Amino acid sequence: MDAQDNTFTIRNLNFFYGSFRALSQISMDIKPCEVTALIGPSGCGKSTFLRCLNRMNDTISGIRLEGQVILEGENIYAEEMDLAQLRQRVGMVFQKPNPFPKSVFDNVAYGPRVLGYSRKKSDLMEVVEKSLRRAALWETVKDHLNEDAFSLSLGQQQRLCIARVLAVEAEVILMDEPCSALDPIDTRKVEDLIRELREQYTIVIVTHNMQQAARVSDQTGLFWLGELIEFNPTEKLFTTPDHELTEAYITGRMG
Ligand SMILES: Nc1ncnc2c1ncn2[C@@H]1O[C@H](COP(=O)(O)OP(=O)(O)OP(=O)(O)O)[C@@H](O)[C@H]1O
Ligand SMILES: [Mg+2]
Repeated sequence: MDAQDNTFTIRNLNFFYGSFRALSQISMDIKPCEVTALIGPSGCGKSTFLRCLNRMNDTISGIRLEGQVILEGENIYAEEMDLAQLRQRVGMVFQKPNPFPKSVFDNVAYGPRVLGYSRKKSDLMEVVEKSLRRAALWETVKDHLNEDAFSLSLGQQQRLCIARVLAVEAEVILMDEPCSALDPIDTRKVEDLIRELREQYTIVIVTHNMQQAARVSDQTGLFWLGELIEFNPTEKLFTTPDHELTEAYITGRMG
């Protein structure tokens, strides 16, 4: 595949918090309809990198970025980039579920309302149902749509946050340790969902759990002290890695 077929083409990305260099010369191709997992020890720059993909770092003062982040041919750091549109196309799910203090329905309807997609209640209902179905949550919540989102279990709240991203027709879903607050059963449900969503979406997931990376992803990148040490098909990275550091990390000898 050529670079123009990538969802993201990242070239020589450097990222600084003040004088601290958090990312060094990262180049990576992120393919459409694949799950890309990012692993590595705490503080190695995984979240920083993820946030570079929808300019979520922009609000932090004193940051500086060099290099290129191209989304389907468009440099997302170009001046003319529309940030609201970028974040609609590249949605984000966080470590801790963060539903709005609103009803289940209003959480999912929020984005489409703000974007003015669906003005009629019946259209909105359709978007909400479709998004909740895709997030494997509809059967559970269909009779509780007007209840507070916080009445859901944590795992359900996380799937609600995923439904919220789906409702605005995102193309890419960034997930920063989306299961770390969940129990094993809810974790499995979110993993199943990730595998289903892969058919239609490009997913980039940060995880500390190497079994999870192995279970859900197609490609895996190992970060280490702000560098991308190895980026390979998941099976290769976990069985016959190219780098000794990867071998040491995945066998638990380092990190
Ligand atoms: N807002 C910030 N201001 C200054 N330094 C920061 C900021 N956010 C992160 N850093 C630093 O940048 C480096 C990378 O942090 P980042 O959060 O991206 O790592 P991470 O790989 O996601 O770690 P973890 O696995 O613990 O979540 C760390 O040294 C961190 O202290
Ligand atoms: Mg992090």
